[in-house]
Amino acid sequence: MASNFNNPHIDPFDYVVFGGTGDLASRKLLPALFRRDRDGQIPPPSRIITAARAGLSRDEYQSHVEASLRQFLDGEDLDGQTWTRFRERLYFVQLDAASEAGWPDLVSLLDDSPREVRVFYLATAPNLFGRIAERIKLSGALSPEARVVLEKPIGHDLASARRINDEVGQVFAEPRIFRIDHYLGKETVQNLLVLRFANALFEPLWQSHTIDHVQITVAESIGIESRGAYYDRTGALRDMVQNHLIQLLCLVAMEPPASLDREAVRDEKIKVLHALAPISAADVAHKTVRGQYRAGAIVGSPVQGYLEEAGVPATSRTETLVVIKAEVRNWRWAGVPFYLRTGKRMPKKVSEIVIQFRPVPHWVFPGSGAATTPNRLIIRVQPDEHVRLSLWMKEPGPGGLRLRSAALNLSFAEAFKGRFPDAYERLLMDVVRGNATLFMRRDEVEAAWTWIDQILGAWEETDDRPRPYTAGTWGPSAAIALIERDNRTWFEETLDIA
Ligand code: BG6
Repeated sequence: MASNFNNPHIDPFDYVVFGGTGDLASRKLLPALFRRDRDGQIPPPSRIITAARAGLSRDEYQSHVEASLRQFLDGEDLDGQTWTRFRERLYFVQLDAASEAGWPDLVSLLDDSPREVRVFYLATAPNLFGRIAERIKLSGALSPEARVVLEKPIGHDLASARRINDEVGQVFAEPRIFRIDHYLGKETVQNLLVLRFANALFEPLWQSHTIDHVQITVAESIGIESRGAYYDRTGALRDMVQNHLIQLLCLVAMEPPASLDREAVRDEKIKVLHALAPISAADVAHKTVRGQYRAGAIVGSPVQGYLEEAGVPATSRTETLVVIKAEVRNWRWAGVPFYLRTGKRMPKKVSEIVIQFRPVPHWVFPGSGAATTPNRLIIRVQPDEHVRLSLWMKEPGPGGLRLRSAALNLSFAEAFKGRFPDAYERLLMDVVRGNATLFMRRDEVEAAWTWIDQILGAWEETDDRPRPYTAGTWGPSAAIALIERDNRTWFEETLDIA
């Protein structure tokens, strides 16, 4: 298959998905593979093999995928020609991760027509990762080129993450382990690298003399959906901050890498993780806020509270929102707080990074101007992806000099026509190509857990309980107070930008 700029060459592959009948596979993995097929990036003999406990025939599995694609292709067309082709790629093997049952069937299917690239995608609970890796080896399913993808969360804390990494590491060498964080596959997140390192404009300003603080918000309006049991064991700190928010922070704070080589990028990210100031019991009360949503309304529709959700115990203390004031202790960022905020059942789904610049040293214009609203760079990760820079301008008109904050706005939809691929599309194909730049190395995951474990420990030591907030709001008042104590405010689009 000819390669082009948008579709780099891909060798034929076998993608074996463990947990392939689960939520992630239905919502994300299969639609992503389907779209890559529709765009002509999947070479003909490639196969997608689902390994799961359910007893399905191949035919039943194909129908199951068809139904889930109809549901999760977001109104896109399940076009007949691609579906006919895609359907033929789908295989199903009934298998038990914990015993020998079914493994010989998988091996004989794989050996049937061996592909050069064999990917094992573990979309299961993390406590199965080690066992599945071991079975892959014992059963003879391992091939020299085989690679494994580990879905987050990798463990529950540092100790369990280390155990999983050790177990998987017994079977797969580190360069063959792809730890996925789908935020790194998002277009705007990759764009952070381009914005910072392809434009001479920002880098000289990207430091504590010019930047006052950084805000990273990942707000969701959805609740925990049908994931009560998982979520209640996990909470927002482990579910979102340990991975997605910390990765965003790393990309904002890291030094320019020498190249885009996977080790070069990951070496710079790990330095940021090592520079994160620990949050101890002494400062957890003023540097963090936990929240738990109560019944409320999202865009006018009533929703129930967290404690009423299926699978959640009525006495749960799990946080559905967390706000953290983080510090990166190094030369570039000394004294620049990074305010992190994420939560479920907030008023809308929005992920964005706000770089708040300092005011000019001396304001010569009438009025308070830059002292109250200095320049700001907003990187909107989703939805309505854009990059926006607020600048002071003279309001047109005679008589006097009236200033107004106005925005230079680069909307991705307007500037770049066409479809924005889902993060998984990019990442799933990166695995086949062996490109691990956008995946996490073992030491990154463990360093992130080290920081998170300190916060968890501090909450436990101080008996911190989540504060209630009404669904459909920006969290408990403490979430606002945390930043306002520093004489700063959360960025609010409607109020803050012309
Ligand atoms: C997942 C979390 O990793 O990310 C979910 O487990 C969360 O709880 C999801 O809803 C958010 O991803 P996105 O791409 O919708 O922002």
